[in-house]
Amino acid sequence: MSTRTHKITLIAGDGIGPEVAAAMVAVVEAAGKQTGASFEWHPFECGAEAYEKNGDILPKAALDSIEQNKVAIKGPTATPIGGGFSSINVAMRKKFDLYSNFRPVKSLPGLETKFPNIDMIIFRENTEDLYAGLEVMINPDIAQSLKIITRKGSTRIARSAFEFARKHGRKKVHAIHKANIMKKSDGLFLECCKAVAAEYPEITYAEHIVDNTCMQLVMNPWQYDVILTENLYGDILSDLCSGLIGGLGLVPGANLGADCAIFEAVHGSAPDIAGQDKANPTALLQSAVLMLHHLNETETANKVQAAIEKVYADGKTLTRDVGGNSGTKAFTEAVIAAL
Ligand code: NAI
Repeated sequence: MSTRTHKITLIAGDGIGPEVAAAMVAVVEAAGKQTGASFEWHPFECGAEAYEKNGDILPKAALDSIEQNKVAIKGPTATPIGGGFSSINVAMRKKFDLYSNFRPVKSLPGLETKFPNIDMIIFRENTEDLYAGLEVMINPDIAQSLKIITRKGSTRIARSAFEFARKHGRKKVHAIHKANIMKKSDGLFLECCKAVAAEYPEITYAEHIVDNTCMQLVMNPWQYDVILTENLYGDILSDLCSGLIGGLGLVPGANLGADCAIFEAVHGSAPDIAGQDKANPTALLQSAVLMLHHLNETETANKVQAAIEKVYADGKTLTRDVGGNSGTKAFTEAVIAAL
């Protein structure tokens, strides 16, 4: 058995971050032992708790490590509401130009929900839109946020979605927008999506307005295959879609750029359950599966995914958010046992 070593920057993050990150490392290590893959984890403290401890939310050493390793996996990091420091997620996505936020939303076997057999992918533009954080107070009573949409940004996320659809035999791409109101910005986004769609005649292209999409998603989510959208709509729709398959504890994600990738779950730091052995690590585990595929560790990735699915199909050791009564640690042990 040959040994392949991968260097990975690890940011455990805030709230439930350290718990789900520990679970993820334990499962990936155990799977790697069976397939000959080994992992050198380079851990860094980032986020709100790191700021309180060391006065630095995003140390330069962490950024240097990501730059060197080209691959990172992170737990959630908290961002203060209203005032305080800006999101380190947004900062990292900008710094490494991680323009494609890839979020697969897939039902897990054995987990009963109102919406069975969901299988869709969200491609969310990750660097522009209202998320650019360009805000000013015009005067004490008027605040202004700039929504930036560019041809370059829209075209490259559209291309990511269509390339993925072509490679994986997906049939439909829906561009989600609000171009009836934001005729210039969302209009440009749609113009770019349409131009890219023309290069993929085998894939059906459709456009839905974002408010209608929310209704469609809870009436007939099965009509969606690949969702292609801007930053803010993608953020909101991801949480909605995670609700369809059983909640935020399940949906993984990848922030992908031309030469760097950061993997993270869709969920946040869940301060309401932090430190109580209640967090569901499935979302970060499935983010690790995406990372393992990215590292060409296909066998290790498949092993981890199969073990997760086995534990769900068995249904005896699930966490509370999905109707079980086990803790993070017991669930993690069950996944390791199922490898
Ligand atoms: P949240 O996703 O942390 O929590 C929303 C609800 O889902 C809570 O009831 C929580 O207990 C539950 N939940 C989330 N993840 C779970 C898991 N793995 N297992 C079981 N239950 C889970 O969203 P919220 O409360 O809006 O945000 C809290 C903090 O997280 C904020 O500071 C926010 O900025 C940050 N955040 C960070 C993200 C990131 O680092 N990528 C993404 C989203 C939010």
